[in-house]
Amino acid sequence: MDQQILAHILEGRRSQPNQLIEVLQDVQEQYDYIPREAMQIVSRELGVPVIEVYRVASFYKAFRLKPAGKHILTFCSGTACHVRSSDLLVNQATRQLGIDSGEVTPDGLFSIEQVNCLGACALGPIVVENGSYHHHMTPARLRKLIESIYEKETALKEAEVKVYAEIE
Ligand code: FES
Repeated sequence: MDQQILAHILEGRRSQPNQLIEVLQDVQEQYDYIPREAMQIVSRELGVPVIEVYRVASFYKAFRLKPAGKHILTFCSGTACHVRSSDLLVNQATRQLGIDSGEVTPDGLFSIEQVNCLGACALGPIVVENGSYHHHMTPARLRKLIESIYEKETALKEAEVKVYAEIE
């Protein structure tokens, strides 16, 4: 963990416990999750007990306590998507990837997250993959999306292996 980044985030906010959520948002933006070490430093620098920092970081779904997968699949569980069977999409992804919502695949390729609304209710059910919105999603289309990502990643890995083999 680059501590200089954290020092920059904390600038002008030290000893201000009311800055906790904003600081954690900035930490997540920079590191993509909230590292344990960062929680300890934030606790010390803001003057907030570490247990409280952990409580806040684990309470809000927007915060991640572990690094996310390379491909983050975000499912909308809001009312508009829910009535259009968004739960079937989550089931498809968890079955296909063998992980639960909030987890990362052992190869680090995928993580599954759920949020309450992605702000595109009329186009639901919505799935976002690393910032790309997929609207009117169906389990079959989702299965193909995941398969295509796997295929691209496999091709990428094979190309890398080939390059390294040529270098050696
Ligand atoms: S409820 Fe799914 S985008 Fe709003």
